[in-house]
Amino acid sequence: MTLAVVTGASRGIGLAVADELRAAGFHVVRLARSLTDGSADRQTDLRCDVSDPVQVERAVTRVRGELGVPDVVVNNAGTFFIKRLEETSPKDFSELIAANLTGPFLVARGFVPAMVERGSGHLVTIGSISDHVAFSGSTAYAASKFGVRGMHEVIRVETTKSGVRTTLVSSGPVDTDIWDAVDPDSKPGFTKRKDMLRAEDVAEAVLWAVTRPPKVDVTEIRLVPTVYAPRG
Ligand SMILES: NC(=O)c1ccc[n+]([C@@H]2O[C@H](COP(=O)([O-])OP(=O)(O)OC[C@H]3O[C@@H](n4cnc5c(N)ncnc54)[C@H](OP(=O)(O)O)[C@@H]3O)[C@@H](O)[C@H]2O)c1
Repeated sequence: MTLAVVTGASRGIGLAVADELRAAGFHVVRLARSLTDGSADRQTDLRCDVSDPVQVERAVTRVRGELGVPDVVVNNAGTFFIKRLEETSPKDFSELIAANLTGPFLVARGFVPAMVERGSGHLVTIGSISDHVAFSGSTAYAASKFGVRGMHEVIRVETTKSGVRTTLVSSGPVDTDIWDAVDPDSKPGFTKRKDMLRAEDVAEAVLWAVTRPPKVDVTEIRLVPTVYAPRG
């Protein structure tokens, strides 16, 4: 059995990645806060807030105990808001960092050492164009995404020659619920939702990266909409 774990797989990009991997033959474990524990054909759902070390430890223990060490882990769960520095409260900042940066750390820490010990595995990090480009209103989000890009690079170095592969998938805007509160169609300078990437576009990039021959390590994929109106 080829086993994949996808965080934030209740909707949006994570759900599309989970569906894509399952259609390709993986048994997929989906983690998210709104999922209920359960299983179906080649699918296991676990309720998990990735920012909570206790909940991540529970999920890691269940996956490893019941299904084994994953072949693929996709760190996707995340949140987003646009607020300028002075509008961003300490609570806003720490909650976003907890989901987008502490979460991927806890999940990677839970699974990567066992992959290294086995000598194979693939950690995919869902970054963003905000992991290398500055946009006004992205103080917290950029801190988290520049952070996960840094963590991806360090894990890459630490797993060199172990057989474990690491891929960062950084995309521009994707039409998911994450944009509902921003309502980009009503704001000048934002990419319109009809022009954004689809969640499936990112999912196909993830599937492509994790299905390369074992000796091929795709370090980073960047994708943006062809019609792209960067803000900021
Ligand atoms: N959409 C874009 O334009 C875009 C572009 C580049 C990168 N990204 C990145 O892609 C990832 C997914 O975004 P999306 O657009 O698919 O957003 P979305 O539709 O809002 O989905 C977010 C997912 O993350 C989960 N999640 C959020 N906080 C969580 C937590 N603390 N613990 C566990 N799960 C959590 C949500 O599930 P629950 O609410 O059920 O927990 C949901 O499944 C994020 O990391 C985002 O930064 C998005």
